[in-house]
Amino acid sequence: MKKILSLFLVMALLLSVGSALAEKVGISMPTKSLQRWNEDGEYLQKEFEAAGYEVELQYAGDNDVPTQIAQLETMLLNECDVLVITAIEANALGNVLATAKENGVKVVCHDRIILDTPAVDYYATFDNFQVGEIQGQYVVDTLDLANGAGPFNIEFLAGDPGDNNATYFFNGGISKVQEYLDNGQLVCVSGQTGFDQVATPSWKTETAQARMDDIIASYYSDGTPLHVVLCSNDSTAQGATNALVAAGFKAGEDYPIITGQDCDIASVKNIVKGLQAMSIFKDTRILAARTVQMVNSVLAGEEVEVNSVVPNNVLDVPTFYCTPLFADVNNYQELLIESGYYTADQLAD
Ligand code: BGC
Repeated sequence: MKKILSLFLVMALLLSVGSALAEKVGISMPTKSLQRWNEDGEYLQKEFEAAGYEVELQYAGDNDVPTQIAQLETMLLNECDVLVITAIEANALGNVLATAKENGVKVVCHDRIILDTPAVDYYATFDNFQVGEIQGQYVVDTLDLANGAGPFNIEFLAGDPGDNNATYFFNGGISKVQEYLDNGQLVCVSGQTGFDQVATPSWKTETAQARMDDIIASYYSDGTPLHVVLCSNDSTAQGATNALVAAGFKAGEDYPIITGQDCDIASVKNIVKGLQAMSIFKDTRILAARTVQMVNSVLAGEEVEVNSVVPNNVLDVPTFYCTPLFADVNNYQELLIESGYYTADQLAD
């Protein structure tokens, strides 16, 4: 009995020493309302815990900036050694990150860069300009614009102006279609082609849908065909789809090409039904593993593997860009099901 007791004591001691030594990571995610961030949070937590970290994971309500700041302050009070942050507003975290820096806490931006502060150490993301380029090129190829086809009518739905990624996506997309807007093969009937005109605050589906409702009513209700809605991600694409379906557009008949990003389950189902043409696939398992690898190297004082830099208005942040791919009806099974990202059941209606 005594032996067993002392074995327990030794084990308890080892466990407490282990947890006292475990580094602590604070993970700050923007919202639970999009599938994307639930997955990122889940994969990050799993990977960090598997690597022996103690994890504090917080979601900032539904994209609430003061909540994100308060949660980061609490993580600092709770003595996190490193913060992994997906910022809601790119330039709203300067003060809390100044405190982090004063306390020697490292900061890694996850997916979205944080601007206007020197208190950022590294950035792991997908190549956001390339995301937009793939979306734009998909439109160019599908409509055969390079061979002079057209004219075709196009509208745009971009992302949240506070999210620096949103301008990269939009500019990447525009870089591929601009020459066809200029030569008249593409016509934006609403005339709304500036980022500020087509942005969607907080990336909300309902906001995108309301704008698309207006555009259809004002410019396409007289039978003018709509051939493309270049949407920056799936939450905006779903807004476009809802508006089009409500207005009576039918898959396989008068339905436009709709681009997207994230391969949300709802959007992949729409791809299968012909209600969305494609979505960018950013394998969040790969991004989570990359962020964890970065944190490991930072805390071990080792060289951090990067392949780019992204300016944040104060410094060039050393960055690792993962590669985005695209999914459509032809490859989604291989890319999303055979890779183990989703089960066939999750995509069944
Ligand atoms: C991410 C996208 C996502 C969007 C809305 C962006 O910062 O890169 O993957 O669709 O935010 O949450």
